[in-house]
Amino acid sequence: MSRIHSLGGYFHEYQKSVQNPEAFWASVADNFYWRKKWDKVLEWNFEEPKAEWFINGKLNITENIFERQLFTHGDRTAIIWEPNDPNEPAEHISYRELYERVCQFANVLQAKGIAKGDRVMIYLPMIPEAAVAMLACARIGAIHSVVFAGFSATALADRIKDCQAKAVLTSDGNYRGNKTIEVKSVVDEALSMSDGSVETVIVCQRTKQAISMTAGRDHWWHELCQGASIEHKAEEMDSEDMLFILYTSGSTGKPKGVVHTTGGYMIYTYYSFKNVFQYNPGDVYWCTADVGWITGHSYIVYGPLLAGATTLMFEGVPTYPHPGRFWEVIDKHQVNQFYTAPTAIRALQAFGLEPLQDYKLSSLKTLGSVGEPINEEAWRWYHDHVGKDRCPVVDTWWQTETGGILISPLSGITPTKPTYATLPLPGIQPVIVDAEGNELKGNSVEGNLCIKFPWPSMLRTTYGDHERCRQTYFATYKGYYFTGDGVKRDEDGYYRILGRVDDVINVSGHRMGTAEVENAINEHPLVIESAVVGFPHEIKGQGIYAYVICEDLEKTQRTEEVLKKEIIDTVSKIIGPIAKPDKVLLVSGLPKTRSGKIMRRILRKVAEGDVSSLGDISTLLNPEVVEEIKTKAGIPA
Ligand code: WT7
Repeated sequence: MSRIHSLGGYFHEYQKSVQNPEAFWASVADNFYWRKKWDKVLEWNFEEPKAEWFINGKLNITENIFERQLFTHGDRTAIIWEPNDPNEPAEHISYRELYERVCQFANVLQAKGIAKGDRVMIYLPMIPEAAVAMLACARIGAIHSVVFAGFSATALADRIKDCQAKAVLTSDGNYRGNKTIEVKSVVDEALSMSDGSVETVIVCQRTKQAISMTAGRDHWWHELCQGASIEHKAEEMDSEDMLFILYTSGSTGKPKGVVHTTGGYMIYTYYSFKNVFQYNPGDVYWCTADVGWITGHSYIVYGPLLAGATTLMFEGVPTYPHPGRFWEVIDKHQVNQFYTAPTAIRALQAFGLEPLQDYKLSSLKTLGSVGEPINEEAWRWYHDHVGKDRCPVVDTWWQTETGGILISPLSGITPTKPTYATLPLPGIQPVIVDAEGNELKGNSVEGNLCIKFPWPSMLRTTYGDHERCRQTYFATYKGYYFTGDGVKRDEDGYYRILGRVDDVINVSGHRMGTAEVENAINEHPLVIESAVVGFPHEIKGQGIYAYVICEDLEKTQRTEEVLKKEIIDTVSKIIGPIAKPDKVLLVSGLPKTRSGKIMRRILRKVAEGDVSSLGDISTLLNPEVVEEIKTKAGIPA
């Protein structure tokens, strides 16, 4: 159903999807169980903006994962869970077992007074309960908001406050490589900073480390489940009811809550999963992302489970206990589709071929890449040495806001080209515009990537601030959704993503706003001003380079090294370790225009170590600081 089998079939479906999008998506939606069918497929305009799909359709997404499929494959494995430590046994959870766990936990949530429309924060490591928690929320109509368990207490508190979460689902701790990480204590700290919206905390036992439990508020997951029924009637949801909020960084301000709704997200994640990965029943599919990111939502949990797939969830890290861990897991569970990020590929590439030698990797059929542009060297290494020259690489371009993959090869169908995301999926109408918003038609053009027609899993709003959604995505180029990415369409009509054109840095496939990192740095009491830019980093894709103006060092009674470390620790504390600057340069001034705007272009050039084309700096307010910055950055005069 809805499955494309050939390149001709792809072009045919694409044509249909553009000529009559409503009929096209209705035929995909017909695969699902709707308690009440929709009255109209789509209403939209990009001015408000508004996009509504399957209007007045009623359904529950978990009923489509479970009830719809249990008769045919209740015994099929839904989740294979591979723990951090290879000596701990893996878990195989069938659709029926997962169904029972979800129903039981749905009952637990409702017994705690959590109801349709309430926001529930999920701050959990990569354990099956993370998926159970998401699905149980969806079952009762509560809106989940998963926060990556590596984010700091401050970051978690900001998100709890923004959506006024009523409950937090978490664990005692988290195993990651050779470390045991605090989780519950971070939640405690976050709650001490929030404003009291949270009434209930449910704690899943994972590490059994000592934690403190606040009476009346905190409960053990396993205790609440005892005696809770494994039967549950799913809440009826409107197609446009919110399914989840996921916070993501942008070029300005605090992270915003991207809102996805039920019906459109369901059919798009299902459709894109099946077609991009060419999943066949019985295959084992593994996406290495964390559930805290959109990739984990759409392509560990929802897409695969809606398609009746076996999805592998991995608790650990690529290099523990050895750099062959990924390959070991692939052989152990006979993984057929493997989906990871360029940063992981480059990190493993750095270990050479030896860690691969003990593994066959013969089960692999498809390799996927996501999160950032993949450089040609990494693409080839992945293709030649992991895929042994026989597995198509699907370079999938998409965003938290798009909900699902928009531009990507279909595995084994679309001819690939290293570093190219290739062609849009059916239903996706990309356009390239110049700085003035004029559409650049035809091939061999380069510009800003926009989408000109809605697709079912498009973001609906940013939580609590629709104007911000309009401003960020729909105001830059009138009539288009603007992605923030630069793109090239080559002579074959293939798309190659060139990276962000806004003040967003992509560190190891994780999105960081420069303003967000600067605000964190500025929290250090001795910092006067800072400016952050990205620079090319061999493993991470981009690293974070921070230029910081501080109080007079002599007065601070610290060495430069100590101060730099304090600044880095401040960022780690406020956002999380993933946002730590790779380089901190203490400077006496920042290059500014006469109107006071920081000239990031100059800072980027210096960070890249390439000052051959700084342009005219004589119009700056303070041209002399450029020399100082160059010298301090170690660039020869
Ligand atoms: C940004 C979105 C989509 C899930 C993971 C990241 C970059 C994503 C690719 C790709 C080149 C890519 C873009 C995009 N990006 N995939 N295949 N090739 N760049 O989600 O945090 O929302 O970030 O990641 O710059 O805008 P995200």
